[in-house]
Amino acid sequence: MDTKAMFKLTYGLFVLTTESNGKINGCITNTAIQVANDPTRIGLAVNKANYTEELIQASRKFNISVIGTDADFALFKRFGFQSGRDVDKFADFADYTIKENGIPVITKGTNAFMTCSVTETFDLGSHTFFVGTIDDMDVLSDTESCSYSYYQSNIKPKPEKVGETPSGKVIWRCTVCGYEYEGDPIPEDFICPLCKHPASDFERVVL
Ligand SMILES: Cc1cc2nc3c(=O)[nH]c(=O)nc-3n(C[C@H](O)[C@H](O)[C@H](O)COP(=O)(O)O)c2cc1C
Repeated sequence: MDTKAMFKLTYGLFVLTTESNGKINGCITNTAIQVANDPTRIGLAVNKANYTEELIQASRKFNISVIGTDADFALFKRFGFQSGRDVDKFADFADYTIKENGIPVITKGTNAFMTCSVTETFDLGSHTFFVGTIDDMDVLSDTESCSYSYYQSNIKPKPEKVGETPSGKVIWRCTVCGYEYEGDPIPEDFICPLCKHPASDFERVVL
């Protein structure tokens, strides 16, 4: 079995936002997809460790901002590499507007939005799969949507070489953000410099 097959799956990228008890928050996700029509339904998988997951469980509503190829890495850093448990991601940030459901949508580096109400949740162990119906949606720009591979090739900063094997052939790749550690084994206490996830979230790849 070659686990690299998982990297052949294609994804879009989104800012998933929500609001609960006056607290607004959001995170980057690559898992939003249309799962049905009539009514149109969106499905998305959110890690239970994410503060956004906890807030959606409480509010039963979310918005999706579709990220475009014109997005800056700063957008990914703000929403994907820190938790709303530790920081207010909307502090000192002007590129959003609050929709009728009280939830922000991102207005810069995005090309469309959907506002959704949760109709079903599925417990998938590490993640919760939310299914929602769309209450409102609009196109914001004609810029092409940003795929996960476009992000990896054109937006994400190139990884620094932080260690090397004599052969130079083994890397450990962060399964959250794609950062690559060169060297083997990865130190047990290694923390991803981009998304701050631990060594246990890295997988060994032999090139
Ligand atoms: C490119 C990229 C894709 C990501 N995709 C997902 C995803 O599909 N599901 C998920 O739960 N987290 C995903 N994340 C991680 C969350 O965005 C990240 O853990 C975030 O800091 C959680 O913030 P929160 O605790 O405020 O909710 C992704 C991060 C990046 C940078």
